[in-house]
Amino acid sequence: MPLVGTADVVNPAARAGRGVGAFNVIQLEHAEAIVAGAEAAGAPVILQISENAVRYHGALAPIGTATLAVARAAAVPVAVHLDHSTSPELVAEAVALGFTSVMYDASTLPYEENVRATAAVRARCHAAGVWVEAELGEVGGKDGVHAPGARTDPGEAAAFVAATGVDALAVAVGTSHAMLTRDAALDFGLIAALRAGVPVPLVLHGSSGVADRDLTTAVEHGMTKVNIATHLNRVFTTAAREALAADRTAVDTRGYLGAGRAAVAEEVTRLLGVLRATAAHATATHARAAGG
Ligand code: G3H
Ligand code: ZN
Repeated sequence: MPLVGTADVVNPAARAGRGVGAFNVIQLEHAEAIVAGAEAAGAPVILQISENAVRYHGALAPIGTATLAVARAAAVPVAVHLDHSTSPELVAEAVALGFTSVMYDASTLPYEENVRATAAVRARCHAAGVWVEAELGEVGGKDGVHAPGARTDPGEAAAFVAATGVDALAVAVGTSHAMLTRDAALDFGLIAALRAGVPVPLVLHGSSGVADRDLTTAVEHGMTKVNIATHLNRVFTTAAREALAADRTAVDTRGYLGAGRAAVAEEVTRLLGVLRATAAHATATHARAAGG
């Protein structure tokens, strides 16, 4: 199964009331692990690379090209997404490389400028057949719109989607980025209200802080794309640390990176089961959100 469009992964899931796992790639081993985990689950998946990860590598092309190659060789549908980009230039580079979608975040700008900038990026991406996720509100980092107290207003969200023409919207419903405990208190009533009022699939950011049970409930109430990064990094690092502790004379990086990769693959398979466990809850509003 080749690299597929992000809409081809997200829209069927939104119609069916299922969640889609969107997992962050930092090293090549993340991409290999996430795809191996998705293949074991028999589920589609989204590989995403954030602007912060690009900054770490110093450029998008090397890690982006490698991630696209892993996606093209997968046995399940895989989309490749640019995550949390504040730069139209980086978005253009991702489009040129063959990424199937981008998240563009102009939320630090005043509302009208945010709409104008997002709409312009959306138009350029759509001309290239690339799906666009946006975020409404404040900065989508560790604070701002994804601070635990931040909330997206359903009316404003609907107006933002209408004005920009984006394909999906990241919303603030109680999560916060980079949590190390899985005890975020989600506002399920707000998720349902957003699902009813916003005509595109909804994206949950900061999902590392959400317990399995609440991930399932969030999908049941209308979330579709579920972004998870920190949790997998913790799984990776724990396994690598254990491998290093078990052999203090080890020098081959494949020993501990391979252990991390295997642990992440297993956890991705498990998480995709958690997100998929909601097929019975498809609703008319999910179908509307996916244009079905
Ligand atoms: O965009 C990526 C995510 O929102 C990941 O957040 O590291 O808290 O799972 P997380
Ligand atoms: Zn995020």
